[in-house]
Amino acid sequence: MSFRVIQWATGGVGRAAIEAIRSHPELELVGCWVHSTEKVGRDAGEIAGGEPIGIQATNDAQALLDLEADCVFYSPIVADRDEVIRILESGKNVVTPLGWFFPGDRDVRDIERACQAGNVSLHGTGIHPGGITERFPLMISALSRAVTHVRAEEFSDIRTYGAPFVVGEIMRFGKTPEEAAQSPMLNVLGGGFFESIDMVAESLGFDLDAERQTHHEVAVATRPIDSPIGPIEPGCVAAQRFTWEATVRGETVISVRTNWFMGEEHLDPPWTFGPEGERFEIEVTGDPSAKVVFHGWHPESIAAGLERNPGIVATAVHGVSAIPTVCRADSGIRTYLELPLVSGRAAPHLGRSEGA
Ligand SMILES: NC(=O)c1ccc[n+]([C@@H]2O[C@H](COP(=O)([O-])OP(=O)(O)OC[C@H]3O[C@@H](n4cnc5c(N)ncnc54)[C@H](OP(=O)(O)O)[C@@H]3O)[C@@H](O)[C@H]2O)c1
Repeated sequence: MSFRVIQWATGGVGRAAIEAIRSHPELELVGCWVHSTEKVGRDAGEIAGGEPIGIQATNDAQALLDLEADCVFYSPIVADRDEVIRILESGKNVVTPLGWFFPGDRDVRDIERACQAGNVSLHGTGIHPGGITERFPLMISALSRAVTHVRAEEFSDIRTYGAPFVVGEIMRFGKTPEEAAQSPMLNVLGGGFFESIDMVAESLGFDLDAERQTHHEVAVATRPIDSPIGPIEPGCVAAQRFTWEATVRGETVISVRTNWFMGEEHLDPPWTFGPEGERFEIEVTGDPSAKVVFHGWHPESIAAGLERNPGIVATAVHGVSAIPTVCRADSGIRTYLELPLVSGRAAPHLGRSEGA
C-alpha cells in the first residue's frame, strides 16, 4: 500500500522532500502547493530539479484540501497555524520541520482538536531542531548513568545557506553589532530549541528552573569578507553564536548552540570551527560520558551548498522517512517519544522486489 502525499511549499526543504517522496517505496506524490505565482502550473518534478512527473503546482490551497491524500509535508517559510489546522481537519496527517517537536505544557488544544476532527496526527521533525537537539541526545543518553549535562551544537559556514533574505535581514549578518543585537533569531529559533530542551528534560527527569537562559555573541569582520549577501564590511557582523540553556538550581544541564560564521578568516574575536571543521556535535556528560560528531550534513563548497545543501536534504528526508509511521499512528500530536523508531529506506535498485 502506498501513502498519498502533498508537498506544501518548494523552498530548499520542499524540493528535497519531493525527491525523497518520489524515491520512497511506500509514498506517492499527488499534489504540490507553491507560494510564488511564477511556480503555479509548473511540474513539481521539474521544480525539484528533476524530470516532469505530471503533478502541476498550485497556489489553490482549497483544491489541495479537497484532494484525497494521506499526508502533507508542510515546509513554507513560516507556519500558518490556521492553515495547519485546516489541513488536519481535512483528514490529512502533517509532517513538518517548523515546530511541534514537543509541545510540553504549551497550549496546543486547537491543534489537538483538529487532529481529532480529522482523525490524523501531526509530527514535528528535522535536524536542528528535530534530531540533533533531542532525538539523538536521548538515544545516546540511554548509555550513560547519572547524567549532568546534555549539549547539542552546530558549527556551520552560513555562506552555504541559500536564503539571502533570512541571512541578511533576519539573522542580520552584515549589519552593525547594535542592529544584530535586535535580531529576532533568539526568539524565532528559541521556540523550537526550547521544545527540544523540554523534551530532553522531561525524558531524563531534570527538575528545571523556570527561567531559561539565552546568549547572543557576535564577531565582526576585520577586512571586507565576500559573501552571497554581498561584502561584509569591517566592523560589521560576520559570525554569530546563539545559545539556549536550561538550569537546575542555577547549574546548566541542557545547552543548545549554533555557531554560524561567514568563513573562519578576518574575524574579531578570531573564532574558528577548530580542527574538526563544520559539524554537528552531541555531548552527554554522565557515567560514562559520550560525544558524537556528525559530518556529512555540510556541503563541500559554498557553491555546492547554495545548489543543494545536505543539511537541508537531511531535514527533508528525516520528515519524509516518518510519513508512513505518522500515517499509521493514533490521532494527535505525535513526537519522537510516542512514535516507533523511524529508519531510512534502501536505494530502489537494492530494495526487495515486489512480492519477494
Ligand atoms: N527543523 C529543522 O531542522 C529545519 C531545517 C531547515 C529549515 N527548517 C525550516 O523549514 C522551513 C523551510 O525552509 P527552507 O530552507 O525550505 O526555506 P526556503 O528555501 O527559504 O523556502 C521557503 C518557501 O516558503 C515559501 N514562502 C515564501 N514566502 C512565503 C509566505 N509569505 N507564505 C508562505 N510561504 C512562503 C516559498 O515557497 P514556494 O517556493 O513554493 O513558492 C519558499 O520557497 C523554514 O521555516 C525553516 O526554518 C527547519
